[in-house]
Amino acid sequence: MIWKKPKIEYIGDIAVIKAPFNNINEEEVTKLANEILEKNKFIKSVFLAATPVIGELKVRDYRYLAGENRSETIYKEHNCMFKVDIKKVFITPRLSYEHLRIAKLVNEGERIINMFAGAGLFSIIIAKKSKPKIVHSIDINPDAYKYMVENIEINKVKDIVFPYLGDAKEVIEKKLLNSSDRILMPLPDKALEYVRYAISAIEKIGYIHLYLHVSAKKDEFLNKAEELTKKELEKYNIEYKIINSKEVRPVGPRLYQVVVDVYIEKN
Ligand SMILES: C[S@@+](CC[C@H](N)C(=O)[O-])C[C@H]1O[C@@H](n2cnc3c(N)ncnc32)[C@H](O)[C@@H]1O
Repeated sequence: MIWKKPKIEYIGDIAVIKAPFNNINEEEVTKLANEILEKNKFIKSVFLAATPVIGELKVRDYRYLAGENRSETIYKEHNCMFKVDIKKVFITPRLSYEHLRIAKLVNEGERIINMFAGAGLFSIIIAKKSKPKIVHSIDINPDAYKYMVENIEINKVKDIVFPYLGDAKEVIEKKLLNSSDRILMPLPDKALEYVRYAISAIEKIGYIHLYLHVSAKKDEFLNKAEELTKKELEKYNIEYKIINSKEVRPVGPRLYQVVVDVYIEKN
């Protein structure tokens, strides 16, 4: 098999080498790790992404390659700071554009729920860049929750962002029914299944942002994402309008992450 040059992702002072999992050239990867350390004085550790992002918690295995054997770092995005351990919580700079796009859609005084918040990136960036009244920020991963709590402190948004540890559907059913104006669902595995809880959390009218993984040809994946969303929304007693759908990032061969922005009115 031909050795394809791997991609490199920078998260704070950690570099992550992403090579095809079934075609790792050990010698080349070690050489590359050392080159990264030599050329980038701000990079202190290099890891190899050893698996895709897997499981409910959306974390992956990493293999230490060079520099300090440390997986915790401070990642900066849109003038906010996020403490994360790349081995314990989901984190990618590839959502950076999307974090800001959503923040710019938020109107003053909005009440927001981030159902799958990870280390709090959407929630904190919204709190810093827009003027929401409150952002309820939920994650089921205890490590993500721990970092989210710390990141809320670090970014001084304690009076706006409220962290919850638990399953988003249970948190909504127990505490947040009919409470909010905008719901973020940045977990493609569960977005469609959890739409009913997102709807139940909207007070009367509001917006839902669904993140989906869609397998289709390049010119068909947006249509497919909208069709899947409509099929789910048709089940509920609501009026709705899909106001936008767009590619977030390619995630595999003929596999795309898509965001669908929906306006809904409850009857
Ligand atoms: C793709 S990551 C979120 C990324 C994050 N929003 C960001 O911008 O970096 C999805 C998150 O959903 C969490 N999760 C999975 N199932 C959940 C559930 N039922 N309720 C709440 N959180 C859940 C995972 O622990 C993970 O942190």
